[in-house]
This record gives sequence, structure tokens and C-alpha cells, in this order.
Amino acid sequence: MKKIKKAVLPVAGFGTRFLPATKAIPKEMLPIIDKPLIEYAVEEAVDAGIEEIIFITSHTKVAIENHFDSNFELEEKLDKNNKRQYIPLINPDKFKNIRFTYVRQKSQKGLGDAVAHASHLINDEPFAILLADDLIISDKSCLQQLSEVYYENNTSVIGVNRVEKEKYSKYGVIEPNTVGKNLFIQNIVEKPSPDKAPSDLAVVGRYIFDSIIFDYLEQVKEDKSNEIQLTDAIQLMLQIIRYLHVNIMVISLIVAANLVM
Ligand code: G1P
Repeated sequence: MKKIKKAVLPVAGFGTRFLPATKAIPKEMLPIIDKPLIEYAVEEAVDAGIEEIIFITSHTKVAIENHFDSNFELEEKLDKNNKRQYIPLINPDKFKNIRFTYVRQKSQKGLGDAVAHASHLINDEPFAILLADDLIISDKSCLQQLSEVYYENNTSVIGVNRVEKEKYSKYGVIEPNTVGKNLFIQNIVEKPSPDKAPSDLAVVGRYIFDSIIFDYLEQVKEDKSNEIQLTDAIQLMLQIIRYLHVNIMVISLIVAANLVM
């Protein structure tokens, strides 16, 4: 079975919901306790064995590139001024062997379009997608939980979480189907109204896909907002691949689902 070595992190969004805080600072760089939001998702990916982080970014997100790059000047200053203890914080050991790759998304055309921008880097491999907006705290990380399902069953897998009715319209909501002890997706609806939602199981921004998803993304047409939705590609995929696994994530706390507390 192929190892999941790459993760795609779409970060090109404007962060409109957080204006004015996001006027000059990418929302992914807003601090949560002592680290920018994006670092939690990168750590989650690296802890789950990912070796390459592919950011789908835009011209306003240069701060993210700088954050994951070395800053020799600062390191030298810290060293000279006897503040060496800060060096591992700005240059964590766990990122030393990680390759950070950046692909510019030319226009804001939705999550599906963002993910499609990574197709030339994925080849014929499984890969993870992490939406950093969903900052999820759990003993075993969400991506680790999904990876275990992937390695056990050798299928794509999507993380879901039970949410209250009022939140259905913020998420992709699935119609589940149980076969034995496994949960599969029968259908998925993007941001349904409470009366149209097929269940209370919402996609939480953690996915593992086979590269076949790119074939379906190519077929997706723009929606009413001129966006290409990942959910629509999943729907197309379900017409062919019946057994797309679902994992109900074991979560202690969602700190910022879509950054709405
Ligand atoms: C995206 C997806 C949605 C998913 C959500 C998780 O929506 O389209 O299916 O449930 O992420 O956060 P967005 O938050 O980008 O509007």
C-alpha cells in the first residue's frame, strides 16, 4: 500500500469574516495561544507522517511562506544575544526534513479549484487535505485517525463530526451508510439548510484521497458563486466508487471550526 507522504493545505482565502484583523495579516497567521493557526495544521500533518506540505496560496499570503522558511538574521541575533532558547521555536526540529511547496491559486474559485492546483505534484499517490480553519484538539489527531482507516482499508476517507442543526449550513453534510462495522458515504450535500441535511454528520476539513479525485475535480462545473466545490467532486466520485470510508472523528475540542467559536 502506498504511504501518504503529501498534504495539501489550501490557504488562499481572503479571510473576509475576520476583517479588519485580516486586512494585512493572513487569517492563517492569526495567533491561537502562542502559534499561528496554520502551524497547528502543519504539526498535525507532520505528526501523522507527512513529508511534503503543499500550500495552495495567493499573493497576499507571503507571510505563510516566510513563517515556514528559515530566518538567518533573526537566528544569528538570538544566538549572539544569548537568547538561543528561542531558536527551536522559530525553527522547530520537527519541520527540518519537511519540504514546503507553494502553488499560487490565480483566482478565488473555491476549495475544489484550490485542491486541483496540486494535481501535478501528487502523481499517483494518496494524499491528505487539511483545512486549517478547523483547528481540532484531540488525543489522537484527526489526520492520524484518518490515516489508520486508510491503512486498514486502502480507501479514501473523510473525517466527519456530529454538529447541531444550526451549523449544517456551514459544512458539507453526508448521508451515511453502514456496512458491518464500517461507515461509508452514500451522498454528500454542500452547506444544506437544516431541513435538507441528510444527517448530522458534517465534514470537518480532514480528507485522505487517492489521486483519482483529480479526474472528478476536472469534471465539476462552477456553482452559483462561480466556485468549484470539492463536495461536487466527491459526489461524482460516489457514483463510481461506492465504498468511500467515513470516520467519525474522536474530538476533545474544536477550537475554531471555520474560525467561528
Ligand atoms: C469547506 C467545505 C465543506 C466542509 C468545510 C469544513 O467549506 O466545502 O464541505 O464541511 O470546509 O470546514 P468552507 O469552510 O471552505 O466554506
